[in-house]
Amino acid sequence: MTTHAHPDFAVAVQAVIDRYPLRGGIIVLLCVVSGCYILYHSVVLFAILARMFVLPKARPNKTVQVDKRRLSIANGSWAVITGASDGIGREFALQLAAKAFNILLISRSKGKLDVVADEVRKINPNAEVIVLPFDFTKAHGAPGARNPAPEPGVPASANNYEVLKAAIDKIDVGVLVNNVAVNHAFPVPFMEESESLIEDIVEVDVLAQMRMARMVLPQMLARKAGTIINIGSMAGKVPSALLSVYSGSKAFLRFWSQALALEVRGKGVHVEHVNTYFVATNMSKIRKPTMLSPTPKDYVASVLQEVGNSINSTPYPPHRLLNWVLDNFVSEKEQITQSAGMHHSIRQRALAKIAREAKQQ
Ligand SMILES: NC(=O)c1ccc[n+]([C@@H]2O[C@H](COP(=O)([O-])OP(=O)(O)OC[C@H]3O[C@@H](n4cnc5c(N)ncnc54)[C@H](OP(=O)(O)O)[C@@H]3O)[C@@H](O)[C@H]2O)c1
Repeated sequence: MTTHAHPDFAVAVQAVIDRYPLRGGIIVLLCVVSGCYILYHSVVLFAILARMFVLPKARPNKTVQVDKRRLSIANGSWAVITGASDGIGREFALQLAAKAFNILLISRSKGKLDVVADEVRKINPNAEVIVLPFDFTKAHGAPGARNPAPEPGVPASANNYEVLKAAIDKIDVGVLVNNVAVNHAFPVPFMEESESLIEDIVEVDVLAQMRMARMVLPQMLARKAGTIINIGSMAGKVPSALLSVYSGSKAFLRFWSQALALEVRGKGVHVEHVNTYFVATNMSKIRKPTMLSPTPKDYVASVLQEVGNSINSTPYPPHRLLNWVLDNFVSEKEQITQSAGMHHSIRQRALAKIAREAKQQ
């Protein structure tokens, strides 16, 4: 046997093989497999740590280097972003504008969208911007939509999927960021959640994601170019007690997104599910960013730096490290238990706050 190992070790291994040819062979095979496993994970860990501490940090205004074929205005000059007035969606708008995209901004509040539109124009005075106020929970006009018509007293054009589709059909969409989501106000047992919020979560976090994709896919497929970024959540990876509907909806997003990605792979369209851990936004109620709960700016810079590499990404390096640890060292049962414990304690704090505020009134 030729080996570069220590001679005593090599002799010992050879002796075992000579004495027990079958068992010795199995032991050597196991050693080789374990060695490959350890080597693979060492390389993965090294790559994550290098991205965190050695390689240059993702910069919001830097042009995307990863795959110009996918995230380039040559593939469609418009970026459509849902939930664009705040948090992660607002950052996508600003950073995609810096990469020369024109921007279609969608969320409920026109006032907040107008502010983002001004910010976009400051970053890129050449960018065209469309502001489209739209409430996905009240939307109507899509085939099979929950609301067949607008609410009484509301103009037929408001929250109308046909109006949204007409706006999208007029522009060449290079990127859709399916970012909008509705979450539980705070962790709550399933049977105590209101029917209306359960329906809102399904309407927005499940149905609206697919409806948006079905609006842009025909033109992307016809042009054989385009990217759909679906913003997922760790709640879609770890079944999350007390956030059961949100967690289930994000699990749907994770599966549907990757299944769709495979369907359109090879047709020029890239679909990516982005596994998001905590980010300091209104939704997470985290005010002070930390290494594990970054600002939307740092988070989105990482997403845009990595987009195109995978159909299921965890692009922000500290999140990727956490993801790697969970995948390799923490059982699913333990992840579910820890998540339930965290949500239970968040619920206790939220209830205590509500009680304090009620007392003060
Ligand atoms: N932050 C986190 O820690 C975290 C973790 C995991 C996953 N995520 C995911 O990241 C995405 C963005 O979340 P975020 O943290 O950036 O939230 P955010 O700061 O609360 O922003 C939510 C955005 O969605 C819009 N919006 C809310 N309800 C809407 C509706 N019914 N119709 C249209 N627009 C609506 C809001 O604007 P208006 O008020 O103007 O409508 C706002 O622009 C979500 O998909 C979320 O699930 C976030």
